[in-house]
Amino acid sequence: MIQARILVHHSDAEIVHEIRSAAAAIDDLNASLHFHTELRNTINAVTNYQPTLVIIEIDEDFDSVKTIVNETLAAVPNAAILGVYDASRLATNVSESTLMLQSLRLGIEDFLRRPIASPDFVQVLQNRLSPRRAMSGELGKIASFISNKGGVGKSTCSINTAVGLATFHSDRVALIDCSLQMGVCGVQLDMEPETTLVDAWEERDRLDEKLLTQLMTVHESGLHVLCAPPSAIDAADIDDAFLSRILLMARRSYDYVIVDTFPMFDRTVMTILDLSDHAFIVLENIVPTLQMVKGFFSLLQEFDFAEEKQRIVLNRYSSRSGSPAIGDVTTYLGREPDFVIPADRRFISSANTGKPFISHAPRWNRAASVLRAMVDEVAEIAKLSDELDPTKSKATSGSAIRASSDSSSSEG
Ligand SMILES: Nc1ncnc2c1ncn2[C@@H]1O[C@H](COP(=O)(O)OP(=O)(O)OP(=O)(O)O)[C@@H](O)[C@H]1O
Ligand SMILES: [Mg+2]
Repeated sequence: MIQARILVHHSDAEIVHEIRSAAAAIDDLNASLHFHTELRNTINAVTNYQPTLVIIEIDEDFDSVKTIVNETLAAVPNAAILGVYDASRLATNVSESTLMLQSLRLGIEDFLRRPIASPDFVQVLQNRLSPRRAMSGELGKIASFISNKGGVGKSTCSINTAVGLATFHSDRVALIDCSLQMGVCGVQLDMEPETTLVDAWEERDRLDEKLLTQLMTVHESGLHVLCAPPSAIDAADIDDAFLSRILLMARRSYDYVIVDTFPMFDRTVMTILDLSDHAFIVLENIVPTLQMVKGFFSLLQEFDFAEEKQRIVLNRYSSRSGSPAIGDVTTYLGREPDFVIPADRRFISSANTGKPFISHAPRWNRAASVLRAMVDEVAEIAKLSDELDPTKSKATSGSAIRASSDSSSSEG
């Protein structure tokens, strides 16, 4: 599978259609596409989205090409940079070879000729985006916990998954609390953070990976947590572009980045999703919640967030009479829950005492075993990616899976 984050700078609107169609025709391509026509927006997007591939429409405006190439090389040194051009539209005094030569001098590595044919596109992608390069070798995996319904257990699931992972990968897991309105990760882990996302925002001009890791609060499990701002007012200025920078930096510093979110589907959550390798959609077996979440699935579809990247978590499951059973939930949503976490009062006392459920519940506890299966799932996703890259060996990922394989079954 070729993974690619593709940023396209173009002036001809038809290019959007050509690239979309060429990409759609490639079975083993998993690409997110961003198109921009304004130079300023393209440059911002290079920094914010850290594309693995930048495609620039080449015409006679070589100054813009040069600027985009330089900005790309500064922000994403690993990115591949392609030129796309329409030979039939070249000015009579500019030959195709002159155009290509000049572009190569500016740092363009390869070319697509219009109209773009899928086989050409595949070949260029294979040449320029081998799986190793596309995954940028050292990047960690981002898993977010989302739902458009409040109080369903997003924070509970993200905290426990992050702690469970950190138990096997000390100092290699980051939990980013993006609940800008009211984050609970710090409290639920009994931590008193000295720094939060607000400090990262205030230091944004000099923020780099090193500083980001220094702003994390370290939990006794070995988990690094970037806590949410202390109040919604403090968070007022933090925007989605900044959060995307934080996630991209975290991905370069940690093997696993777990993101807790808030109950909405706004630009911020869309930005988080756009960067997520996987999203766990959390819901409950309560009819109004199911109705809301069904609409949420449609939004995810419109947003082109692939179903393979989604996992459904039916949380606080109880089979009390009148509540939809797992089969009813599956029929109603048209999707089977991947994980079913039973309702368990110990979650409340865990939240109150700041002792994560996953590390304090009895080994035989059903909810804890489902949480461990979720931990395995995140580790498995990273392991599968690593298998594509023979230069990377993450023995620790394997050990996490083995260590809890006895509990890897999920209900439902
Ligand atoms: N499986 C469960 N059984 C019993 N209680 C649970 C379970 N999961 C979560 N809870 C409790 O439900 C409450 C809400 O959970 P949580 O804060 O994780 O939801 P949330 O989706 O993050 O909420 P918000 O939308 O406000 O961010 C908490 O008190 C938590 O302890
Ligand atoms: Mg929450």
